[in-house]
Amino acid sequence: MSSGIRDLRTFIELLRERGAIYDIGAPVDPVHELGAVLRACEEQGKAAFFHDVKGFGIPVVGSALGSHERIALAVGCRHEELGDVLEKATLSPMPCREMDGSAPCQEIVADEVDLGTLPVPVHAPRDAGPFINAGVVIGRDPATGRHNLSYVRLQVKGKDRIGVNLNTWRHLRDFFEIREARGENLPFCVAIGVDPALMIAAAFRYEGDEYEIAGALRKEPTPVVRARTCDVLVPATAEIVLECEILAGEREDEGPMAEYTGHYSGRYPQCVGRVNAITHRRDPIFQTTAGASYEHLLLGTAVTREPRLKRLAMTTSPRVREAYLPPYASGFLAIISMENPHPGEVRAVGLAALNAHVNINTVVVVDTDVDIYNPAELFWALSTRVRWERDQVVIPGTLGNELHPSADRDGVISKTIIDATLAPNLRDSYVKIVYPKVNLAALLGFPTSS
Ligand SMILES: Cc1cc2nc3c(=O)[nH]c(=O)nc-3n(C[C@H](O)[C@H](O)[C@H](O)COP(=O)(O)O)c2cc1C
Repeated sequence: MSSGIRDLRTFIELLRERGAIYDIGAPVDPVHELGAVLRACEEQGKAAFFHDVKGFGIPVVGSALGSHERIALAVGCRHEELGDVLEKATLSPMPCREMDGSAPCQEIVADEVDLGTLPVPVHAPRDAGPFINAGVVIGRDPATGRHNLSYVRLQVKGKDRIGVNLNTWRHLRDFFEIREARGENLPFCVAIGVDPALMIAAAFRYEGDEYEIAGALRKEPTPVVRARTCDVLVPATAEIVLECEILAGEREDEGPMAEYTGHYSGRYPQCVGRVNAITHRRDPIFQTTAGASYEHLLLGTAVTREPRLKRLAMTTSPRVREAYLPPYASGFLAIISMENPHPGEVRAVGLAALNAHVNINTVVVVDTDVDIYNPAELFWALSTRVRWERDQVVIPGTLGNELHPSADRDGVISKTIIDATLAPNLRDSYVKIVYPKVNLAALLGFPTSS
């Protein structure tokens, strides 16, 4: 890959070159202020680098991958190519490579484990405390030894104690359940501040080893090194590594935290972890993402799921044109456009889309004259082209995600497919009104906003 990105640092430099990050020199409080400033930067389309976090000598970067453009930049492609690039990466895995000699992430080994030395923000006003939520969590399958990368929010509860929020359908949870049944703890590591290819890889639900996706995205194997206190391989160029274990037989209340649904999560008994070692690079950078931020939504609910959505929809009908998981709907809504669907095809495509990811609970199918990326057009189609008793089907009692506010505690929810396409006999009678485009600036003689 020609972008020159090898780690978080080189990516931040690239963001600076592109004017995609705000450097914030003013002192910022990690409790509530940092999260609010981060959101404000995101709303202006920028990442944020906090040079002076009150009470800490470690800078914090946030929202590094908080837009489609920055995610595309991280993997060296254009926004429109992102889906294909990500899809290909899952089909051409490249295993990681264990480094000889010393690794940057182990340049410094902390004398004492104390999470209070790290600038972990309390992001949102009602968060229960500081959460590490942009750390890539690395575990190993006790049965096969393969590595798994994912995100798990970690609530800092003491110098070496963390809450570990493991939802259903998570590989790390499966690994822990195997170990716990034997009365054993599960070792795992958290790599904070990594090559963005690893951050994207960690967001995938993938049956193999996600290091292989990062390697495929970078077109070279990810350099890794063995952790010092457990048999887990960690990214060699990570800024900070926490070496931890999830404790068998222990559960403790965890949360609430601002979640991707746009609501605070509840407070429930969750797993508990112990941090056994902290290693880091010289002059480390802490990386964070605010709960319910664009970065959280894009990584957690959209970009890694869209390729599969498109593939399933398009293999179900050759009349599918586009498929989209808008981040504003937290990954619960899929919008699909079709060109003159044949009888029964909208529902067939809708069922395929519902299977693209367990969280999807609403599928809306529209005609190709509707811009699926424009929420106003979607609402127009829903308001003008749907006969609700005929065009909507509801499937009760289906597995979704337990964080959805209307799901049962075990994640069971109802799902729906809405046919917002014009019936074939109406296509000629109801033609969408589209005025020709004009060059207003040329006409008026001064620049206009469009
Ligand atoms: C920023 C971020 C935070 C996340 N936090 C959690 C979490 O606290 N608990 C959880 O179970 N999943 C969380 N997820 C979702 C999983 O990390 C994600 O679904 C991942 O693909 C699961 O990997 P796996 O299928 O390999 O287990 C989060 C995702 C993102 C992007």
